[in-house]
Amino acid sequence: MMLIPGPVNVPQSVAFAATKVVNHRSDEFRQVVKNLEELMSEHFNSERTALLTGSGTLAVESMVFSLLKKQEKVIVLTYGEFSNRLLDSIKRRETDIIAYSKKFGEGFSIEEVKKIVEENKDADSVALVHNETSTGIAFRNLEEVSKIVKGSGKKFLVDSVSGFAAYKIDVNSWKIDAVATGSQKALASVPGMGFVALSDEGVENLNEDIPNYLNLKLALKFQDKNETPFTPSTGAFYASLRAAELLKLEGIEKRWKRHEACSKFLRQVVSKIGFSVFGDESNFSNTVVAGIPPITPKNLISALKERGIEISGGMGELKEKIVRIGILGVVDDRAMSRLTIALSDIFKQDINEKVPDECKLPDFLRNEVIW
Ligand SMILES: Cc1ncc(COP(=O)(O)O)c(C=O)c1O
Repeated sequence: MMLIPGPVNVPQSVAFAATKVVNHRSDEFRQVVKNLEELMSEHFNSERTALLTGSGTLAVESMVFSLLKKQEKVIVLTYGEFSNRLLDSIKRRETDIIAYSKKFGEGFSIEEVKKIVEENKDADSVALVHNETSTGIAFRNLEEVSKIVKGSGKKFLVDSVSGFAAYKIDVNSWKIDAVATGSQKALASVPGMGFVALSDEGVENLNEDIPNYLNLKLALKFQDKNETPFTPSTGAFYASLRAAELLKLEGIEKRWKRHEACSKFLRQVVSKIGFSVFGDESNFSNTVVAGIPPITPKNLISALKERGIEISGGMGELKEKIVRIGILGVVDDRAMSRLTIALSDIFKQDINEKVPDECKLPDFLRNEVIW
């Protein structure tokens, strides 16, 4: 059982769809491109969504290069490994960076965001990671952050690779210029696709002085004819279309509530065992529970592995210091129960927490997910 923060266990019909190889210039595939963009734009409530063959990093870097201009002033908020990567990509775009950093394991409050934006009236843009997968900390109130950023007239770029579908995101109403995500996270598809959702302002502001593979304007120009500029991973497109359909059938609100319920449940369980868990009510992640366990991370990871459960260790400066448990995609009450039983066995402690009903998958989905 894989409980790492991506890639994730996928429903059987998604895995099956991933095997399709077709002519990418055929009407059959054009229909897939059309339906996938429509569904992803519905899930994001975005004007457009660029469909890219690659991973989350491609989505993030194409967002950075397509939306930011050389020399423009960009505020970057960093609080973990993926924020550092975002900062690095923004540096490579040769922008003028104003970076604010938090220690790994901490997050920014709304008041801090407000102060930072007020202190930098001349900045053109703000970029941040929505859900910091390396520490299990998130901007839980992205709507409020968007109001502050867009209210000050700046562009807003969001890496939500591990956040999309696990929190409410409303690109058009919140006027976020661009949000990047990947297929192998809460969407519960196979790895291989990146998505960049854009508001109308985001679409208007796309640059062209960049490599073709990072050029979202070019991607959208081809999507206007229901095609992609280059050879796509056809299987990943079919799989992601199926995953986006399943997300619609479950209901996106139910999905983000399921993530939140599982995350809260797991935080309670590991706290009971004596973990020092990162995050508090204001900033805990819906998709990653991270912290310092009462035994060494290495020993916990191998004890769970012996029981057939895979979790992850720390990244960057937290390497070998923490564990991270991913609760992304189609994680449900059965996965949570199995993990709880294993933890109870390893720590020789009764854990009487009941998995909440909000953690359950709807029957049609439960039937095609094996834990
Ligand atoms: C927040 C965040 N950004 C970017 C990435 C990079 O995504 P990928 O590994 O798919 O390139 C990840 C991957 O876990 C992530 O969690």
